[in-house]
Amino acid sequence: MANNFDVVVIGGGPGGYVAAIRAAQLGLNTACIDEWKNDKGGPALGGTCTNIGCIPSKALLQSSEHYEHAGHAFADHGIKLDNLSIDVAKMQARRATVVKQNNDGITYLFKKNKVTFFHGRGSFVKGGDEGWEIAVAGAKPDTLTARHVIVATGSNPRALPGAAFDEKTILSNDGALSIPEVPKKLGLIGAGVIGLEMGSVWRRLGADVTVLEALPAFLGAVDEQVAKEAQKAFAKQGLKVQLGVKITEVEGGDGGVQVAYTDASGAAQSFACDKLIVSIGRVPNTDGLNAEAVGLKLDERGFVAVDGDCKTNLTNVWAIGDVVRGPMLAHKAEEEGVAVAERIVGQHPHVDFNTVPWVIYTSPEIAWVGQTEQQLKASGRAYKAGTFPFMANGRARALGDTTGFVKVIADAKTDEILGVHMIGPYVSELISEAVVAMEFKASSEDIGRICHAHPSLSEATKEAALAVDKRALNF
Ligand code: FAD
Ligand code: NAI
Repeated sequence: MANNFDVVVIGGGPGGYVAAIRAAQLGLNTACIDEWKNDKGGPALGGTCTNIGCIPSKALLQSSEHYEHAGHAFADHGIKLDNLSIDVAKMQARRATVVKQNNDGITYLFKKNKVTFFHGRGSFVKGGDEGWEIAVAGAKPDTLTARHVIVATGSNPRALPGAAFDEKTILSNDGALSIPEVPKKLGLIGAGVIGLEMGSVWRRLGADVTVLEALPAFLGAVDEQVAKEAQKAFAKQGLKVQLGVKITEVEGGDGGVQVAYTDASGAAQSFACDKLIVSIGRVPNTDGLNAEAVGLKLDERGFVAVDGDCKTNLTNVWAIGDVVRGPMLAHKAEEEGVAVAERIVGQHPHVDFNTVPWVIYTSPEIAWVGQTEQQLKASGRAYKAGTFPFMANGRARALGDTTGFVKVIADAKTDEILGVHMIGPYVSELISEAVVAMEFKASSEDIGRICHAHPSLSEATKEAALAVDKRALNF
């Protein structure tokens, strides 16, 4: 039967499309179903990440950073620019082109790897030990059968109670990425990853940005020393962040948005803005999957319940990425996708959440892997830490970007690296060295003894590793 597959993947985001490619590489007859539509109604593979997440946000972060450099940093290099102006429509058109290049890239990869693609919504019909029947609802409805099913249906933005997204004035990440002109006053609720990245984009382009955050601490999950440095840097740039607030009411309309809240002291406050981005986390997406009909178990927060190997409660049904527990990151989804495909053919892969890197693409960038000092203190594990500032790094001085530092934390006795925390230029790239080191159970001395190119930002990592034993050479 033509539509009889070894593996059917539901969802073509970074988890699903990578799982499908790996399954096909391993010789499995594989299909992927994805329902995302581009503005012409056609397919747009890549999920949240490619269409309204990682990729478009980084495109706008790059464009807005160029604009900010042209307006400020270029003068320090002796480059004069008169009448600097910004064409937001062009910037947005570029963002859309970058997204389309990525959509098309995945379509090409499916063809290359012989993954059969179905455009539409996939849902369970019936199944069990003998296999599964999956319906595809879309322009060309279809029915597929599969020995294995991988659920990779991702996540959706969480809305504030009583303030539904209209994507005109009350915006999710979707609307936040396609604002057509720079708002005068922009409000953001939630000073998490999206709040800081999107807040940075629109502040650089000229908006007056205020971020309202419920928690009393800034970037609570980040190493405290890094969070403090970040808070200082963002305040200097003019990003206004208020902590410890409680939102009481949000009212949107044609004229903008009114937000009522209490501040950290409990006093009632109000705030008006042209547009409001709500970035208070994301919720797993199992809409339309017909999970209940086949008894697919969800946990109490609505995630598909899985074990450490991404197995669900149903025979040969797996789930990966944002729709299951763990960090909501594209690279975590990808690693789980590869691992599940390999498990299906009897291999024994392993995904270690402790070495999943995090990056916040603000300026300065923030990146980390492993444990923070506060986590180690709480667990009572004895450690030593070394830091090295970019101010003392020759390449950073030449770049004109000396904010921040690298911190290496190692076990007090064995010297095994337990965590690496970075804030500064291009740390999104530098963090990979720390991930590799931790995967290979390296000690801080290992990094300190490895030759790093000069002048390079990576020397700050080497110096921070040397600083663990108080023997940094350049500070
Ligand atoms: P998704 O990417 O959400 O893909 C799920 C896909 O399944 C979608 O295409 C959806 O349409 C489809 N689907 C759902 N249900 C069905 C169904 N029943 N039938 C058919 N198709 C279905 N992560 C990073 O690591 N780095 C970043 O820089 C980063 N930036 C981000 C910026 C923003 C603004 C946002 C919102 C997120 C960002 N993320 C980032 C998070 C990242 O996007 C997610 O972790 C990642 O997309 C999760 O991948 P996934 O495959 O699990 O799900
Ligand atoms: P987040 O979890 O990063 O941040 C949400 C913030 O909102 C938190 O600080 C939380 O305390 C706050 N908050 C929650 N409820 C609130 C309320 N009622 N009022 C005020 N503040 C409130 O979630 P975010 O920014 O929405 O992003 C979702 C996820 O997407 C991230 O956790 C991350 O996994 C992923 N992402 C990753 C990126 C990257 O890797 N660079 C970029 C953007 C998103």
